Amino acid sequence: MRDSGLLKLAEAAMANSYSPYSNFRVGAAIETKNGKVYTGTNIENISYGATICAERTALFKAISEGETEFVKIAIVSDSVDYIFPCGMCRQVLAEFDDGSMKVICSNSKGDYKSFLLEDLIPFTFDI
Ligand code: THU
Repeated sequence: MRDSGLLKLAEAAMANSYSPYSNFRVGAAIETKNGKVYTGTNIENISYGATICAERTALFKAISEGETEFVKIAIVSDSVDYIFPCGMCRQVLAEFDDGSMKVICSNSKGDYKSFLLEDLIPFTFDI
């Protein structure tokens, strides 16, 4: 799928953001190698640490449906600044990266840039 199409799906997911504490809405859409798309949004909690980011929501939905191979993930927010995945999401995405996963980062003006995940997290934790 085109980056722009995946961003549109991420934007639709952002409409369901549950973010009463930060008022910061995020949406994500991840495309599998077999052409499926799973979307996600950030879901906050009164116990702030229990909050989950949009990227992991999308990824975990995909994983729980049996998908483990991904082409790219698109991320949107309300911010005029580009949104990048947080460190925790980078590490979690890297678990399922074969070196080709792309991350499409956007701003609310509609600009976007594509990065290789491994360029965003060159030294993942490993055991
Ligand atoms: N958030 C995401 O969903 N993705 C990111 O990449 C960064 C942060 C969410 C978590 C929280 O609900 C809100 O944005 C503010 O940190």
